[in-house]
Amino acid sequence: MKIAIIGSGHIGAGLARAWASKGHTIVFGARAPEDAELSTLCKGIGATAALVADAPSDAAVIVLAMPFAALDEVLRVVGGLDGKVVIDCTNAVERGPHGMTLKYGHTTSAAEELQKKLPGAHVFKSFNAQGAENLANPVYGDVRAANFFCGDAPEGKRIVKGLVEDIGFEAVDVGPLTNARLLEPMMLLWIAASKTLGTRDLAFKLLRR
Ligand SMILES: NC(=O)c1ccc[n+]([C@@H]2O[C@H](COP(=O)([O-])OP(=O)(O)OC[C@H]3O[C@@H](n4cnc5c(N)ncnc54)[C@H](OP(=O)(O)O)[C@@H]3O)[C@@H](O)[C@H]2O)c1
Repeated sequence: MKIAIIGSGHIGAGLARAWASKGHTIVFGARAPEDAELSTLCKGIGATAALVADAPSDAAVIVLAMPFAALDEVLRVVGGLDGKVVIDCTNAVERGPHGMTLKYGHTTSAAEELQKKLPGAHVFKSFNAQGAENLANPVYGDVRAANFFCGDAPEGKRIVKGLVEDIGFEAVDVGPLTNARLLEPMMLLWIAASKTLGTRDLAFKLLRR
C-alpha cells in the first residue's frame, strides 16, 4: 500500500521503517525533501520524499506525523484528501498553568475537528498514546503492546487495523471517531506514567477474558 507520511521525525520515521519492512511504499511529505538526513533515511529504508503538497497524490493512506501546530499549514497545501484514509498521530497540547494540557476535550477532539476540515477524508486517530520508541519494538517479553485506534469508515478500519498490526502492536478498535475524546487524553496519561516511572520504555495493554 502507498502511504504518505507528513513528518519524518520520531513518529514519522518510526512508522516508515516498520511499514517499509512490511513491503509498503513510503513517501515522506516534507518541507525540504532534499534534506540530507531525510535522504539518508529514505535510502536506508527504500522510501522517497516529496514536498508536502505532492506526497499524498497517489497514496491511499496519509499519516499526519508532524507537530499539531503545523496542521493548518499542512492542510492548506494537501487539499481535501477526499476518499483517503488519514491517520492523525498528532497531540494537540498546550502549556497550561499546571503543565501540559489538551487543546480539545470532553465535547470534541482534535481528530473530530480535523474531520470537519476534511469532510471527504476518512479520519482515524492512532499512534498518539505511546512513545515513538515502541514503533521499533512494541513487544514486551512475549506480550504485544496495544495500540488503540478509532474512526468511522468501515473499509478504513480494516486498513488501519492492518497497518497497526504491521508495526507489531495488538490493534484495538475503540469505535467511532468521537472516541478520540478518550484516546487523546491517554497520551497525557502515558507521559505522566513515563515521568513517575522514569522511563519511556512503556506501553498500554488491554486485558481480556
Ligand atoms: N515523539 C513521541 O513519542 C510521540 C508519540 C505520539 C505522538 N506524537 C506526536 O506525533 C507528532 C510528531 O512527533 P515527533 O516526536 O515525531 O516530532 P519530531 O521528531 O519533532 O518530528 C516532527 C516532524 O514534523 C515535520 N514538520 C514540522 N513542521 C512541519 C510543517 N509545517 N510542515 C511539514 N512538516 C513539518 C518536521 O520536519 P522538519 O525537519 O522540516 O522540521 C519533522 O520531520 C506530534 O504531533 C507529536 O505530538 C509524538
